[in-house]
Amino acid sequence: MDSSAAAAVVTPAVTPAVYGASDRPPRGDYSRGGAVLADYTCPQDWASYTPADHDTYRRLYERQVAQLPGLACDAFIEALPSLGVKDRIPRFDELNERLHRATGWEIVAVPGLIPELPFFTLLANRKFPVTDWIRKPEEFDYIVEPDVFHDLFGHVPMLFDPTFADYVQRYGQGGIKAHELGAGEKLARLYWYTVEFGLIRQPDGLRAYGAGILSSVGELRHAVLSDEPRRLPLDLLRTMRTRYKIDTYQANYFVIDSFKQLFDLTEPDFTPLYESLKVAPDIEAGVLLPGESCKA
Ligand code: PHE
Ligand code: FE
Repeated sequence: MDSSAAAAVVTPAVTPAVYGASDRPPRGDYSRGGAVLADYTCPQDWASYTPADHDTYRRLYERQVAQLPGLACDAFIEALPSLGVKDRIPRFDELNERLHRATGWEIVAVPGLIPELPFFTLLANRKFPVTDWIRKPEEFDYIVEPDVFHDLFGHVPMLFDPTFADYVQRYGQGGIKAHELGAGEKLARLYWYTVEFGLIRQPDGLRAYGAGILSSVGELRHAVLSDEPRRLPLDLLRTMRTRYKIDTYQANYFVIDSFKQLFDLTEPDFTPLYESLKVAPDIEAGVLLPGESCKA
């Protein structure tokens, strides 16, 4: 990232375009009196959280941690304590000391969803954007847009895994290229079906590694145990053809065998794949193609 641009205090002129099926404008204060920088990062205003905000985080954490055994992947469970405090919203700076030591990643605060190019650029620089606001008590069970609980609890433990952490950086680098090639929306589907809603087959069974699953009280069981959703092996073309909904449980999931497999699968240049995607029609969420079986 261009550090001079990052240092300039410029309020972004646009609010982000959001992929997926939703017509709501993004939530979050993108003006904030000039505190949002040109790269969409902002300070985490920790002092502005209320006791009720901290309590919401504490209750979400407590509820979610109880249902992880047998459903969340080992890498996630092992790294979760590295988030630090459980009874209030962590200070990003304090968490960054551990994260940076582990994998060279750091988290940066953002006001909410951000446009694809700044998003890809942050990831390419091993900076993970974390929304700094927390949901209202009445949204305790379900929230469409990411808040600080989803971003921290769901995403950050996985960034302690060295192979997965490298994958996310490479995804960001690939994203900058996809943006130039007009393929950003297709590549966003790969993020959706891996980083957000990925499943992994461990020796002891199917587990979740996607943050959208791991931070959701209902979707964790649905994704790993329910007979309802389709589960297919991760295939780049198939995955990037598949649409998704952002406001219901997923109708299909894509399964990997290991993070090394994910890393190796995404190593080749995607340019020819983007060419194929221009002519391959989209597939609706939950639909199986002829010859596909949903037992991944
Ligand atoms: N190999 C991809 C490309 O050439 C980059 C990439 C890596 C994309 C990892 C996604 C995930 O575009
Ligand atoms: Fe997310």
